[in-house]
Amino acid sequence: MNTAGSKGIFVGGASGMCLATATQFQQKGGQIAILDLPGSEGAAIASKLGGSFHPCDVMDYAATDQAVGDAVAALGGLHFVLNTAGGGNRAVGGTPQRTVKKDGSRHSTDTFAKVVALNLVASFNINTAAAQHMSSNEPNDKGERGVMINTASIAAFEGQIGQVAYSAAKGGIAAMTLTMARDLGSLGIRCMTIAPSLFATGLTAGVPAEGAHNMTKDAAFPQRMGEPDEFATMALSIFECPMMNGSTLRVDGGQRFAPK
Ligand SMILES: NC(=O)c1ccc[n+]([C@@H]2O[C@H](COP(=O)([O-])OP(=O)(O)OC[C@H]3O[C@@H](n4cnc5c(N)ncnc54)[C@H](O)[C@@H]3O)[C@@H](O)[C@H]2O)c1
Repeated sequence: MNTAGSKGIFVGGASGMCLATATQFQQKGGQIAILDLPGSEGAAIASKLGGSFHPCDVMDYAATDQAVGDAVAALGGLHFVLNTAGGGNRAVGGTPQRTVKKDGSRHSTDTFAKVVALNLVASFNINTAAAQHMSSNEPNDKGERGVMINTASIAAFEGQIGQVAYSAAKGGIAAMTLTMARDLGSLGIRCMTIAPSLFATGLTAGVPAEGAHNMTKDAAFPQRMGEPDEFATMALSIFECPMMNGSTLRVDGGQRFAPK
């Protein structure tokens, strides 16, 4: 699809990779709406990009449906949704844990379920809400009605010790991508997932330089954290290329996580 003249919703768009993608989308002539937490910078960023802000927590599925609906109304349509809201155990108030810890206790099932809810169930909910809106679009001259991109992680494929919940949740996002693309193929709606390695975003802002070096030293090239603009370039390439569908693309400099 052409970015110029298209309308996009950016969930998690107040920071990092989603902000970079919203910015590039707007710079190429697209119209944007940002969904993010109420306490985020979403309002100021949306105003700077000439768009609208719709605060919500993606774990509140009904409120997210409402926010997606409000965003579509503000945009006057919907062609693109990118979702990056997510995270691991810490994002839901827990700590990284082994399946059975060294003291013999078990990984918290509550934390596991919350990580799955934040990443997998919330992505599914955003996708179904967005696809329902996209389904009423007039198709373009290639038969396309819209594109959805979710965010996994290379931990979906080689999760490190302590990441069992995060790996399961991101693996679920990767696994649903082809099925969702098949479900939505007759509607001309594409579904893709990006699996980044470490990227320099709000999520990793607290990682010291030495830690960042250690965490990226087994990448092939480049051996550094990715830049949000590099994620954005991939996301917009997917949006613009009709043949990109049903896959999870690693954007990782050839990195494969070791067990720890
Ligand atoms: N940065 C990395 O190294 C890296 C690597 C692999 C995967 N990821 C994935 O990327 C995503 C994070 O994106 P980022 O790295 O650009 O981080 P970021 O912190 O810069 O941006 C994430 C945005 O999502 C918003 N958000 C978080 N929880 C939310 C919720 N419950 N409801 C609504 N909005 C919420 C935050 O407020 C923030 O603006 C996560 O899904 C994470 O698992 C990040």
